[in-house]
Amino acid sequence: MESHSLRILLSLTVILSLFIPNPVYAKTICEFPAIFNFGDSNSDTGGLSAAFGQAWPPNGESYFHGPAGRYCDGRLVIDFIAESLRLPYLNAFLDALGSNFSHGANFATAGSTIRPQNTTLQQSGFSPISLNVQYYQFNDFQHRSQIIRSKGGVFKELLPKDVDFSRALYTFDIGQNDLSAGYFLNMSTDQVRAYVPDVLDQFKTVIKYIHDHGGRSFWIHNTGPVGCLPYILDRLPITAGQVDKAGCAAPFNEVAQYFNRELKKAVIRLRKDFPLAAFTYVDVYSVKYELISQAKKYGFVHPLRACCGHGGRYNYNVNHGCGSKMEVNGKEIMVGKSCKDPSVTINWDGVHYTQAANKWIFDQIVNGSFSDPPIPLKMACYRQ
Ligand SMILES: *[C@@H]1O[C@H](CO)[C@@H](O)[C@H](O)[C@H]1NC(C)=O
Ligand SMILES: *[C@@H]1O[C@H](CO)[C@@H](O)[C@H](O)[C@H]1NC(C)=O
Ligand SMILES: *[C@@H]1O[C@H](CO)[C@@H](O)[C@H](O)[C@H]1NC(C)=O
Ligand SMILES: *[C@@H]1O[C@H](CO)[C@@H](O)[C@H](O)[C@H]1NC(C)=O
Repeated sequence: MESHSLRILLSLTVILSLFIPNPVYAKTICEFPAIFNFGDSNSDTGGLSAAFGQAWPPNGESYFHGPAGRYCDGRLVIDFIAESLRLPYLNAFLDALGSNFSHGANFATAGSTIRPQNTTLQQSGFSPISLNVQYYQFNDFQHRSQIIRSKGGVFKELLPKDVDFSRALYTFDIGQNDLSAGYFLNMSTDQVRAYVPDVLDQFKTVIKYIHDHGGRSFWIHNTGPVGCLPYILDRLPITAGQVDKAGCAAPFNEVAQYFNRELKKAVIRLRKDFPLAAFTYVDVYSVKYELISQAKKYGFVHPLRACCGHGGRYNYNVNHGCGSKMEVNGKEIMVGKSCKDPSVTINWDGVHYTQAANKWIFDQIVNGSFSDPPIPLKMACYRQ
């Protein structure tokens, strides 16, 4: 009798185990409780504005109805990421006013590089908040947020839980300014290429530190086709032979692609070094290039012209940027929006994409079709 019931029990266990979802095959979505973002203006939601003065109008007008710390008419890719994970938009770590960090923080600032630059913001336009500084700020945030949270009350509502740091999504979009910085110092393409390994070493170091602090899910954008942006086309010398079919400057895009190949190798190395973490490499370059080179097909116009800017072939002038004041025939005017409809325009201000372009880019990358491994955003806590 006893052996009989034991047999039934055993066979029941076998049968049941066939129906219990195997964690490897039946993955549930990750449910990230927070996002911690690192980067440059492509994902700055108010960092540079908090430290150095607000982005001017007409920035933000298509969505926020006024400046919102973003160099865009509206939302950025990181905003669409937050929306799709049902998390609030990220506040900038540097923003002392009204910020709520319960679901993450944004350490990105416009003009940030991976490597610290040897020039000031005033001299070169590159932010002093380079990736290593963003890491110092993250480190400080992680540590002090817990001390302050333990005071309870409103602090508990404004700061993330300790466990959320290991369950959070860590997002990165940085590197474009490291490439342009060399060119603006009049370096040759060979000279720029030569320092890319150093840039990526410093990138890996920061990822390692964040991993040491408990970060496990990393979503890493590669760098975009910088040679298709008005500020590069207008400011850097190129010959007719260096212009590609889409009207972009091929040498700068080739350097970006070289950076991306090396970044991909760095990510593969990180996966080997940190077997407990998930690293998703996202090929934003291909998505942006496809949009610019096939703009018409996707319902966009004038892919190489800035919407908000002034003058020249690309409606861009470094001395008369979007929202700045200038004098025309003795009258002061504001450099504003000159495109008819930002919702069918790709470039916002010569350097940054419009909200409409950002939405299009996000829609391409969210399902994992441009990711390595090809997993969707919601599954980015898994290695495969
Ligand atoms: C800044 O200068 C230091 C010392 O010369 C050098 O090691 C470093 O590579 C420079 N950084 C950049 C971004 O050029
Ligand atoms: C902070 O944001 C969270 C999530 O949106 C919300 O539940 C909480 O009430 C906010 N806290 C304050 C003080 O606004
Ligand atoms: C780069 O070259 C241009 C043109 O020769 C010159 O005007 C500019 O000052 C140079 N910039 C630097 C940082 O050396
Ligand atoms: C991902 O989304 C894009 C844009 O909506 C679509 O074209 C593509 O077929 C999707 N890919 C997969 C694998 O679902």
